[in-house]
Amino acid sequence: MKNIVVLTGAGISAESGIKTFRDADGLWEGYDVMEVASPQGWQKNPKLVLQFYNDRRRQLSEVHPNAAHKALVQLEEQYHVTIITQNVDDLHERAGSSHVVHLHGELLKARSQKNPDEVIPCTNDINYGDTCKYGQQLRPHIVWFGEEVPMLETAISLTEKADILIIIGTSMQVYPAANLVHYVTPGIPKYFVDPAPAITDKSIQVIAKKASLGVPELVTKLLEHV
Ligand code: APR
Repeated sequence: MKNIVVLTGAGISAESGIKTFRDADGLWEGYDVMEVASPQGWQKNPKLVLQFYNDRRRQLSEVHPNAAHKALVQLEEQYHVTIITQNVDDLHERAGSSHVVHLHGELLKARSQKNPDEVIPCTNDINYGDTCKYGQQLRPHIVWFGEEVPMLETAISLTEKADILIIIGTSMQVYPAANLVHYVTPGIPKYFVDPAPAITDKSIQVIAKKASLGVPELVTKLLEHV
């Protein structure tokens, strides 16, 4: 079976009702990005940061996978598919994708603020004073600006094995995620589904459509021409 690697960003979840980051005014849901998504913001006001991610986590119960998440699952009928997502939601998993790597963490996990390896499942709010079993304050299991990306090496080695690369709904502005595209074998087919694609690489076939339209179309094509 050929390997398909799919790199997704906020755009794939937009039609499920989760806002993207850079389509607005530099604010996420009314918050200054650095206040809620940086180690400095956490130092300054951990309660605000917890509240921000508690709201995002609660929102998960109100949203559902859309046609794009679901179409990617169909690809597994004829390909080995790995999704590398920048998203912290669980919509790929809920759609049924079997192999999902979260580059920027997951809303449904918490971790010790002292030990990044002490990660636990988290379906409810994290409150100030909630601790891991070693007594350390819990924080969202999210990769904030300026922090290491622990899944990066895994993502690179998966990308190097791709026979086909699909990029969906990302502004390609955040590194190191945006660099992954450079690790594919030269000459493999590459597709980019985004209504406002911000790339100039001529070797990538652009499908300038919303994910819910463009992804099912691409999947149908790939299933017909394995
Ligand atoms: N279908 C597909 N793409 C869409 C749709 C849609 N319906 N609506 C918007 N988009 C596209 C936009 O055109 C844009 O290119 O989604 C992209 C969203 O870009 P960003 O908001 O920058 O999101 P993303 O690229 O995922 O951000 C990367 O930045 O702040 C960090 O950690 C955060 O993971 C995030 C990372």
